[in-house]
Amino acid sequence: MIKVFKNAEELSSSISGFKSKVKTIGFVPTMGALHDGHLKLVKKAKKENDITIVSIFVNPTQFNDKKDLDKYPRNLEDDLLKLMPTHVNYVYAPEVSDIYPNGMEESAAIDLGGLDEIMEGAFRPGHFKGVAQVVKRLLDIVQPDHLYMGQKDFQQFTIIAHIIRKLSIDTNLVVCPIVREKNGLAMSSRNVRLSPETRAAAGMIYKTLKYVKKQVLTKPVEVVKSQALRKLKTGPFDPEYLEIVDAHTLQSVVDFSQHEYVVACTVVRAEGVRLLDNIILKKA
Ligand code: PAF
Repeated sequence: MIKVFKNAEELSSSISGFKSKVKTIGFVPTMGALHDGHLKLVKKAKKENDITIVSIFVNPTQFNDKKDLDKYPRNLEDDLLKLMPTHVNYVYAPEVSDIYPNGMEESAAIDLGGLDEIMEGAFRPGHFKGVAQVVKRLLDIVQPDHLYMGQKDFQQFTIIAHIIRKLSIDTNLVVCPIVREKNGLAMSSRNVRLSPETRAAAGMIYKTLKYVKKQVLTKPVEVVKSQALRKLKTGPFDPEYLEIVDAHTLQSVVDFSQHEYVVACTVVRAEGVRLLDNIILKKA
């Protein structure tokens, strides 16, 4: 049986009870509506640690769109059933008041070094401040040795890596590859909101990213970007952005040959759902 905690103090005291006896604690933060992408993270954490903890919390402070927050799928029982075969040790599924006992206004916001102002940050103002706030709080509670996050949210894990460095948090960030549906669509809790036709056609996003990866070797970045944006604008799909950025700074790349680590990130909207994806174009 998975032990489910609703209360941070109870979880913390249980963790202090075994902390000296176990070698490592692995932690997977989630907002629930678990899919195979999450389960892969949990299985990896389970394999690499003595104790694995999963949090399930739909964090209001990272939603700039109230409708998106209201529509976010929530089903704890279903999530626990999906977690059962992973043999995860603990689940932390708090209420908002447990995460934010002093209210959701943050007293001292964490400096995100401008990494939060572009791409997702430009389309979802305040989103990463909310992510930083909740992840910091969760790390304070769980104090994991290893923190597991997915590559799908490239900007998110880059910002979390920045916070870990900046605040000298004693945890090791493990980034796991994107898990895809059969047609190549990156797995996401929001995919269930797509019609079956659109979900099937959404495989073209990953196809376009693979096209970018090939083309950028021989064509200027700006040309490849506009070709890709044209490809992404088809049927019900409407790209918000496609950026080719330096993976460390998240700043736009002009000359591909001048950077060692480059990623293409995109968000395509369909039927009111934002579909995120990315592909690493080069890593020295
Ligand atoms: O990626 C997510 O699911 C969320 O942004 C996270 C990291 C759990 C914080 O709420």
